[in-house]
Amino acid sequence: MQKKILLTGVNGQVGHALKTRLLEYELFALSREQLDLSSAHDIRRVVREIKPDLIINPAAFTAVDKAETEPELAYAINATAPQTLAEEAARLNAAFIHFSTDYVYDGTKNVPYLEQDIVNPVCVYGKSKLAGEEAIRAVGLPHLILRTSWVYGVYGKNFLKTILHQASERDSLRIVADQFGAPTSSESIAEGVVKLLNVWQPDLENKTGVYHFTNSGSTSWYGFASEIINEYNRLAISRNWPALKVSIDNVVAITTADYPTLALRPANSRLDNTKLKKMFHVELPSWQQGLHQVMQAMAF
Ligand SMILES: NC(=O)c1ccc[n+]([C@@H]2O[C@H](COP(=O)([O-])OP(=O)(O)OC[C@H]3O[C@@H](n4cnc5c(N)ncnc54)[C@H](OP(=O)(O)O)[C@@H]3O)[C@@H](O)[C@H]2O)c1
Repeated sequence: MQKKILLTGVNGQVGHALKTRLLEYELFALSREQLDLSSAHDIRRVVREIKPDLIINPAAFTAVDKAETEPELAYAINATAPQTLAEEAARLNAAFIHFSTDYVYDGTKNVPYLEQDIVNPVCVYGKSKLAGEEAIRAVGLPHLILRTSWVYGVYGKNFLKTILHQASERDSLRIVADQFGAPTSSESIAEGVVKLLNVWQPDLENKTGVYHFTNSGSTSWYGFASEIINEYNRLAISRNWPALKVSIDNVVAITTADYPTLALRPANSRLDNTKLKKMFHVELPSWQQGLHQVMQAMAF
């Protein structure tokens, strides 16, 4: 029988990318209008109506700075809602896939993080996401918690779009060069999840747990912005895209201290993906390949 999947946050980057790739399943892909995660009552009603075999939850309160001033809503969406979804999934003997973040770490380690490393989020967003992870574990159902980082894609608002917009309007860009991580495309995430599902289904209990789930390699925000501009310029000639205003020589590296934000961010966001490869034989492409794939699918 075809598996029934309930997918949340379908208008988000990862939700949208998943919706277009979970074609071999009976998919209930729900927007905020169809399922408002701030209401436990709605969550219970919708899950009981659909009776899925699997819930995939990419929906989240992702506005990192806004979470500092709206902690109650951040916790409601990032911690309470995943707990309720997990409780309802457990009631149906269903499985649960949830997304979490590099921001559960404080960034003080100087090599890539392993799943078993100590978590110590330094901002409300990270704390609320960690509370969500803990709540799911406490429910005790078959689950995967996929910690990803620096998400961008063809669809949605993200760093890639911001850089391309600014690069078409400004003579110079100032980009933080002392935070390191793996830019990860929503397309790579969705393709990775499809592969995971095939491996996970027969062995739900043994593979349950938390996994790092990012494009491979790492860079700084400055390195990512530079590659975005170089990649745009490489593709622009054959695609007839308009020239950018900024030249690569005018992309300037700055420090976190030069660009203060409301929420603190970890300096080291690099996640080691070895566990994913070992348990599932799944590897996401390099961040440069992920970027190339996304930019090839874009139009200007
Ligand atoms: N973005 C990143 O850089 C990043 C980094 C690390 C980890 N992650 C994690 O990866 C996952 C996917 O992130 P993403 O980049 O795809 O996020 P996104 O593009 O911001 O999408 C989040 C989605 O959640 C939905 N949502 C928010 N509040 C809701 C509510 N009350 N009820 C129902 N839906 C609600 C939003 O709905 P609307 O469209 O209606 O606003 C949106 O569609 C999240 O768990 C996030 O924490 C993201």
